[in-house]
Amino acid sequence: MCNSLAHAEDSKNDAKNGSKMKIDLSTKIAGVKLETCVFNASGPADVTLEELEVIGKSKSSAVTMKSCTLEPRVGNPEPRYADLEYGSINSMGLPNLGYKAYIKFARVLKKKFKKPVIASISGMTLEDNVIMFKAFNNSAVDIIEFNPGSPNTIGKPIIGYDFEEMDRLLDAVSKVCKKPFGVKLPAYFDLVHFEQIAGVIKKYPVKFVTCINSIGNGLAINPYTEKPLIKPKGGLGGIGGGYTKYTTLANVRRFYELFEDKIQVIGVGGVYTGIDAFELILAGASAVQIGTAYLQKGPYIFEQVQNELGDFMANKGYKKLSDFRGQLKPL
Ligand code: SIN
Repeated sequence: MCNSLAHAEDSKNDAKNGSKMKIDLSTKIAGVKLETCVFNASGPADVTLEELEVIGKSKSSAVTMKSCTLEPRVGNPEPRYADLEYGSINSMGLPNLGYKAYIKFARVLKKKFKKPVIASISGMTLEDNVIMFKAFNNSAVDIIEFNPGSPNTIGKPIIGYDFEEMDRLLDAVSKVCKKPFGVKLPAYFDLVHFEQIAGVIKKYPVKFVTCINSIGNGLAINPYTEKPLIKPKGGLGGIGGGYTKYTTLANVRRFYELFEDKIQVIGVGGVYTGIDAFELILAGASAVQIGTAYLQKGPYIFEQVQNELGDFMANKGYKKLSDFRGQLKPL
């Protein structure tokens, strides 16, 4: 039997044997090896060391820390998070302990859990971002995710929609950052905007983009009390979870195509199952983060999504992510 026929025969037999196949869910982000492609998103329950240790103990393949600012922040007035039928709304306002705490936490987490630690930087000004990027150069973090795009900071625009400001910020942080870094992006909806922001990002040594932050400024209402569900900004907040999945898929796909796989894409938004993760990887994601579902289901979600993804791949005869990543078929 010629080699390709033998391989096809192997794959068929493996597929029949389903989950008996050895499935490799590992990936590399910015050159850093992750045991699996599934880990936590910055945001939910990752502010304190205790919360981060819960993620460290779980099967999340990395520990992503809360987006930090120069000074500690208490965040927006409460209530500022609510579960919705298929997702969530939040306007947290970047509550965090200040970047110095996360430099300390990274050392503890690395030592204790021996998995990659990801810092998320979300400075209020260009100067703040530069100070923090410089400080994290001498830290235990493996990767930095730059988050200039929170939709929830009262009085601040969503910077990811201001392409000139993004250019200025990326220029400044690229000059000082010595760690591999990527950028968390808001959701884009207009095809021209994808091209414009991709053009800016390509100018800098950005290793990955994380798509998408919660979709800014939704409004959830309680019809019985006739009030919004959250307090800040008259009830407006970022929409996360299941409502975002199809926008996430479109953003992952478009950036995968525009970057021609030279800048990686991490998918986040609406992942509750292994099949959700599979779809994002098929669209081009190199890894998948879990945000709202972690808050709603708890730390077992990472293991559940990994198991389901492995089973789904096995049933299709795929042994590793590169067997199908980005290979969305035309209709
Ligand atoms: C927040 O703390 O408001 C959420 C962070 C983000 O949306 O980036």
